[in-house]
Amino acid sequence: MVTAMTGSKADNVTWHIGEVDRDVRTAAHGHRGAVLWFTGLSGSGKSTIAHRVERMLIERRVFAYVLDGDNIRHGLNRDLGFSPEEREENIRRIGEVARLFADSGAVVLSAFISPYRRDRDRVRGLLGEGEFVEVFVDTPLEICEARDPKGLYKKARAGEISNFTGLDAPYEAPEAPEVHLETADRSVDEVAARVVGYLEAHDILGDS
Ligand code: ADX
Repeated sequence: MVTAMTGSKADNVTWHIGEVDRDVRTAAHGHRGAVLWFTGLSGSGKSTIAHRVERMLIERRVFAYVLDGDNIRHGLNRDLGFSPEEREENIRRIGEVARLFADSGAVVLSAFISPYRRDRDRVRGLLGEGEFVEVFVDTPLEICEARDPKGLYKKARAGEISNFTGLDAPYEAPEAPEVHLETADRSVDEVAARVVGYLEAHDILGDS
């Protein structure tokens, strides 16, 4: 079955609807698809926590997959920098990719600063009710800067990087995230377990 498509620059393209729908995929995987959208400052621990959650889920045979900021910027989004417009486009593309993965039945874990509320809310709007789980990795700037795993805060303070989030570019913290992780003084396992607990409590993992 095909339907006409809107919002596309290309003419004469149609949206093809397949023979397998969401419910069939959910039954095949034994759990629902969803997007866990980690957001927080550089060095806050998004990626580390997302990868730990991914491992915990895979061990339970959940189809989980991390989309990671630095990696996507080496491939799909290597044409984008860090201006507000480029960050918007970065998040838009990742949102579309996350939606496709979730539609395939995966539990997607995306780890991008995604500093603008509007951009995150747009991704939420692409997904169904309960399918977008905003996870705020709330690590104070002082701690991120002290950790400075990639030495970028140091470079930014020295004027070698401009528009650095938290210093001379904004970070808009979520106002009502589904999961709020305060990471200071907590282990990676502890906060990762909270994320998995949320998925269990909201029936995303089914019998997995
Ligand atoms: S986002 O703002 O567009 O969501 P994204 O998560 O993809 O950012 O990439 C952030 C990563 O790029 C940081 O963890 C850091 O390693 C690197 N980076 C390089 N320049 C900057 C900058 N100006 N601001 C923030 N992060 C930067």
